[in-house]
Amino acid sequence: MDSRFGILVLFCLMGLTCADQVKFVDCGSVSGKVIQVDINPCPTQPCHLQRGDSYTVNVTFSSVVDTPKSTAVVHGIVAAIPIPFPIPVEDGCKSGIQCPIQKQQMYHYVATLPVKSEYPAIKLVVEWELRDEETKDLFCIKFPVQIV
Ligand SMILES: *[C@@H]1O[C@H](CO)[C@@H](O)[C@H](O)[C@H]1NC(C)=O
Repeated sequence: MDSRFGILVLFCLMGLTCADQVKFVDCGSVSGKVIQVDINPCPTQPCHLQRGDSYTVNVTFSSVVDTPKSTAVVHGIVAAIPIPFPIPVEDGCKSGIQCPIQKQQMYHYVATLPVKSEYPAIKLVVEWELRDEETKDLFCIKFPVQIV
């Protein structure tokens, strides 16, 4: 095993920072452009989300609009049906973003994704949107996860 990988795994096991860049699909970001998506921890892809645990989602994006507001909307897509996926803080301006959002600026949206213990152990696609004042998407990303 590569020693760098070993150290990363060790950090993850210790619960320290080990953000992993994940592959995502853009599902229609019109008011912004997604640069990078990190999920912590997610050492293997698709991310394995342990029931009862919480994960950090960090979306780096740049805005193409000025907007005083941003609201997150999260769905889990199961068998093509989007099911609302509740997150504790819907206000993007309270999720690492300093509002008002200004065009041509880069932001890190950082949110917590709690995985409830009553969720079924299935594979699904998470669709995460951050909407501006006009409910257009600053970003819309999709990434697969496996609940374990
Ligand atoms: C979010 O990700 C970016 C890019 O990897 C990084 O520079 C930034 O420090 C991260 N923010 C947090 C709070 O983890």
